[in-house]
Parts: sequence; structure tokens; C-alpha cells
Amino acid sequence: MLNIVVLVSGGGTNLQALLDAEETGKIRGGRIIHVISSNPDAYALERANRHGLCSSIVNRKAYLTAEEFDNELLKVLEGCEADLIVLAGFMCILGERVIQRYSNRIINVHPSLIPAFCGKGFYGLHVHKAALSYGVKLTGATVHFVNEIPDGGAIILQKAVEVHKGDTPEILQLRVMRQAEWEILPRAVSLFCEGKIIVKDNIATIED
Ligand code: GAR
Repeated sequence: MLNIVVLVSGGGTNLQALLDAEETGKIRGGRIIHVISSNPDAYALERANRHGLCSSIVNRKAYLTAEEFDNELLKVLEGCEADLIVLAGFMCILGERVIQRYSNRIINVHPSLIPAFCGKGFYGLHVHKAALSYGVKLTGATVHFVNEIPDGGAIILQKAVEVHKGDTPEILQLRVMRQAEWEILPRAVSLFCEGKIIVKDNIATIED
């Protein structure tokens, strides 16, 4: 069984989707052992607590430099012997040391079809605002590995979602979460834990 550690910063609906998937046996080969929040007030911590899961706070604002923040994160991750790190609405950019230490073992869910509306500055509602301003008729979500380039790691799964006339960023965000993120994130986690994802030259292939 692989040790899964989930990193969060906010509401934690993707964490909830992972916990629900685990409970219903949809995550094979791994178990969620710990939650780390970059924000002490994240509702995600309450979700972890309700589930009886241990959690830690590594408050980004409490560290002067990104290096100090990374060191503390590494300490917690090593302490719980993490095999897979899942960024589920984690709003901090990880430093090189963490990324290299867990190369192709960190996955992130992003609320658009990468390479659209991604990279620096594209997170949370900003992504949906940008999609609506551009006038795209389809958007969606992507689960990908994390490398040194923001949202640039190998793509594992994607799912498209329709944009409707009259959508606000909030309405679109909820549709993308419901129809895509909460489905593909647990699926990708299970595929990883079952050893079914192969990465070569920044391209991920899924074995049947
Ligand atoms: C989700 O839509 C997630 O895809 C996005 O933030 C939201 C977090 O919601 N993540 C990013 O934009 C990361 N670049 P949650 O806390 O309810 O899971």
C-alpha cells in the first residue's frame, strides 16, 4: 500500500472526493495517511479531522523564504514516509528541492484543459474568469505530474466540460469540479497507486 499525502489550501472539495473514493474502494493500492495545509483556516482541515485523519499546518505566511517553507514541507513529508503527494487545491508553488525529491510522484489537479489557461497566475477562479473572457465553449480539468514548470508536467487524465450561456466563474467552477475534477483526481490517484502510469520524456501513458 502506498502512502498518500494530500496538500490543500482551501475548501477541500477535491480532498473530500479522494476520501469518498477511498471509502468506497475506488483507490486501489494506496491509502491517504496525512493532510498538509498551507493555510491554518482551510476548511479542508475540518474535512480531514471529521474523517479521523492526521493533519499538519505548514503556513506559507509563517516563513520568510520559499526555501524555509520547502524545508518544513520536506520534513513533514519525510516524517510520514510519503510515496505519493497529491496537490488538491494547493495554492503554493513547490520549490525545486521538493519537486526533485519526489520527481513524478507529485500530482496536481488543475481546473482547465492544459495547455489552456494554465501557468503562473492561473489558479482557482482566475482560471474560469479567463476561460469565460476568452469565450471558449469547452473547458474542463487536468490531472498532471508536477515538474519545475508551473502546470507543465506530464498529463495523466483530462475531462472536458461544456461552458453554458450565462455562466459566471463560480457556476463554471462548480460544474468543472462536479463533472471533471472530483472524478478524474481519484481515478488518477488509483492508477498511480496501481503502478499503471508510465512516464517517458514528459509524456504519461496509462497501461490497461
Ligand atoms: C479546484 O478547482 C482546483 O482545481 C483548483 O482550486 C480549486 C480548489 O478547490 N486548483 C488550482 O487552481 C491549482 N492551480 P478545493 O479546495 O475545493 O478542492
